[in-house]
Amino acid sequence: MHADRDGSGKTGDGAAGSTLLSKAREDAAAPYTEGDPILQVRGLAKHYPLTQGILFKRQIGAVRAVDGVDFDLYAGETLGIVGESGCGKSTVAKMLVHLERPTAGAIRYKGEDISKLSGRALKAVRRNIQMVFQDPYTSLNPRMTVGDIIGEPYEIHPEVAPKGSRRQKVQDLLDVVGLNPEYINRYPHQFSGGQRQRIGIARGLALNPEIIVADEPVSALDVSVQAQVVNLLDRLQAEFNLSFVFIAHDLSIVRHISDRVGVMYLGRIVEIGSDAEIYDHPTHPYTQALLSAVPVPDPTAREHRERIILHGDVPSPANIPSGCRFRTRCWKAQERCELEVPLLAVPAEFRLVDTPARHDSACHFAEEKHVVPTEAELEIPGPAEASGDGEASETGEGETS
Ligand SMILES: Nc1ncnc2c1ncn2[C@@H]1O[C@H](COP(=O)(O)OP(=O)(O)OP(=O)(O)O)[C@@H](O)[C@H]1O
Ligand code: SF4
Ligand SMILES: [Mg+2]
Repeated sequence: MHADRDGSGKTGDGAAGSTLLSKAREDAAAPYTEGDPILQVRGLAKHYPLTQGILFKRQIGAVRAVDGVDFDLYAGETLGIVGESGCGKSTVAKMLVHLERPTAGAIRYKGEDISKLSGRALKAVRRNIQMVFQDPYTSLNPRMTVGDIIGEPYEIHPEVAPKGSRRQKVQDLLDVVGLNPEYINRYPHQFSGGQRQRIGIARGLALNPEIIVADEPVSALDVSVQAQVVNLLDRLQAEFNLSFVFIAHDLSIVRHISDRVGVMYLGRIVEIGSDAEIYDHPTHPYTQALLSAVPVPDPTAREHRERIILHGDVPSPANIPSGCRFRTRCWKAQERCELEVPLLAVPAEFRLVDTPARHDSACHFAEEKHVVPTEAELEIPGPAEASGDGEASETGEGETS
């Protein structure tokens, strides 16, 4: 969305970008200063033990749901995370908001590793990182009124809204998310899906967080309502200077809302960069394959689009291939891919070149591939010029309750 940055995700390392050198420097604990990432995730992992036996359980392996994730989130930006089902997106989200404890790695909020905090220190930090869940039908308690659902976080953090002011605060939040403040005594079943997700968003905002982790916040909604909720999130970000981690499997929605995008495969981020770098100049074969499957509305672009069909299934996270984890499905795989793990860094051939291909990609043979021709290449008018393709209103009008 509207981060006050160049969108590259880099902190001014020049051509070297995030080389191993700069990564090592970033990893050294340093005091937080304005302009630094608000959140730094390094080597984040969650391994679930696989056990055998009834009386005497012994571990026979592990599901490596998340297996070494690195990314930065800057104040006021939206980082989209995309990837196929089961690649570990929700597990990352849960670790960020402390619903799961990492097996390894660091989550630095303003420079401090919060992954191992507990007690009061954890409570203070948790307030600043809130989550919006995927399914507005199951994430809201059907027996609680909307007022109680949105105001529940104040029970844990009464300092944010003392008892006498809570009703007004909840009504203000309903107003902010485009719902009638008079609905405060209604129950979740009296709302449509889109309206319920607005309630979930209002609850996420209740404690004035700095970061919102939204795990597939529109996937359970009708297509017609998705754009309204995305536009609402967009507006709220600008209004409250929020930073978003926006998780989805729909690449089109992620592009619409994100400043930068990270592509996940089997527990790791395999490519990350600004939305233009990832969508128009992908260098990782997996990203290229995902993009080639995105529906293209324009018939000319569709005609020129190269479709890449991936063969085979995603391997089990309990049995991750050696070397490059994508190699069992990659059409470019060579011997080196089996032997050496590719690091997430700017590929050597792009480091000294001024090109949008100069972004982090975990591939030994990274190269640009134009899967879908860009608008400029096809001279397709942009959305502003195209008729009948205006932004959907973000208001809840038209939704039924
Ligand atoms: N508690 C658990 N115990 C064992 N394995 C788990 C557990 N939670 C998740 N997993 C496994 O970890 C992997 C990642 O799961 P996760 O829910 O994070 O994926 P996802 O990318 O969010 O998928 P989706 O797009 O379907 O929501 C999956 O293989 C899942 O089966
Ligand atoms: S490292 Fe090899 S297997 Fe992995 S994505 Fe690159 S070419 Fe494919
Ligand atoms: Mg998920």
